[in-house]
Amino acid sequence: MTDKEPVKMCVIGSTIWIFIIFIIITNGAPGNCLQQTSSGKNSDSAQSNSVFDDSLSRNGQNPDGTPKTGPYFDLAASKNVTALLGKTTYLNCRVKNLGNKTSVALQVSWVRHRDIHLLTIGRYTYTSDQRFRAVHNVHSDDWTLQIKFPQLRDSGIYECQVSTTPHMSHFVHLSVVEPTTEILGGPDLYIDHGSTINLTCIVLNSPEPPAYIFWNHNDAIISYDSGRGGVSVMTEKGETTTSFLLVQHAMPSDSGQYTCNPSNAQPKSITVHVLNGEYPAAMQHGGQAKQPRLYSLLLCLCLLLY
Ligand SMILES: *[C@@H]1O[C@H](CO)[C@@H](O)[C@H](O)[C@H]1NC(C)=O
Ligand SMILES: *[C@@H]1O[C@H](CO)[C@@H](O)[C@H](O)[C@H]1NC(C)=O
Ligand SMILES: *[C@@H]1O[C@H](CO)[C@@H](O)[C@H](O)[C@H]1NC(C)=O
Repeated sequence: MTDKEPVKMCVIGSTIWIFIIFIIITNGAPGNCLQQTSSGKNSDSAQSNSVFDDSLSRNGQNPDGTPKTGPYFDLAASKNVTALLGKTTYLNCRVKNLGNKTSVALQVSWVRHRDIHLLTIGRYTYTSDQRFRAVHNVHSDDWTLQIKFPQLRDSGIYECQVSTTPHMSHFVHLSVVEPTTEILGGPDLYIDHGSTINLTCIVLNSPEPPAYIFWNHNDAIISYDSGRGGVSVMTEKGETTTSFLLVQHAMPSDSGQYTCNPSNAQPKSITVHVLNGEYPAAMQHGGQAKQPRLYSLLLCLCLLLY
């Protein structure tokens, strides 16, 4: 009975500690708040640069609800863009009512904010960087900036400017992302002889799903109709694409390096160790070994308290 007393204390003590840690974690929020307010300030200052942005969000109406007569941006069609590294992308700027100001022909330009570099004016491309091109069809309200082979350094703010006095601006944020590949549970995976190897490969940051995902085993492409049998792949495409490789009845010969090769991202590997018959028992011990460790951790916490 007396033996149980320290355990009781320990449970109470560790509960207190977990509670304290929980409070510390949730109180981490002030940092987030600071970030939010500072980013809030950023967007404020960005908005003060573009006097018209606010009224434009009313989509062609003045604050009193009457229709606008001057040009205005169609924000729903002039959105921020996430581009895939190296894949041609388009920044669109839709300007309504551009032609209605009669006498002076208004121009729509694209300016890169990083270095205030004028990229396009109307249908003409001004920059010497061949990757940029102005795209505009007559009678269309869309003034598009085409960027070929976008690089990570192209990320940033691009300004669509209308040559009214004072000029009107709409800011489009471009982020160029590199797809990344991950295999869950790496870099090493230990599997019991006879059980199923289940490898999960995730392709992140890919604006469009990879056309295909190959799996390799020790540099040879895995073929699903080989004599080995019991090998299957399931791929779920979406914002993040996931590919599952299942190898049933694992044998020691299934050990080795498995590589996930998406068509549009870097490959990623995991090393699988199939344990032959003697090891499973050891594995189970390994699993139980965690409990004493947890127990000693709780003991430590108790010692800290008392
Ligand atoms: C053009 O502007 C005039 C006033 O300046 C306005 O009456 C007319 O409705 C406008 N036309 C269009 C198509 O917005
Ligand atoms: C565009 O991205 C910037 C920066 O991430 C953000 O502040 C802004 O609100 C975004 N605009 C729209 C229309 O989503
Ligand atoms: C394989 O593992 C993934 C992730 O752990 C899981 O979602 C999936 O259901 C598993 N598939 C099978 C057939 O066990």
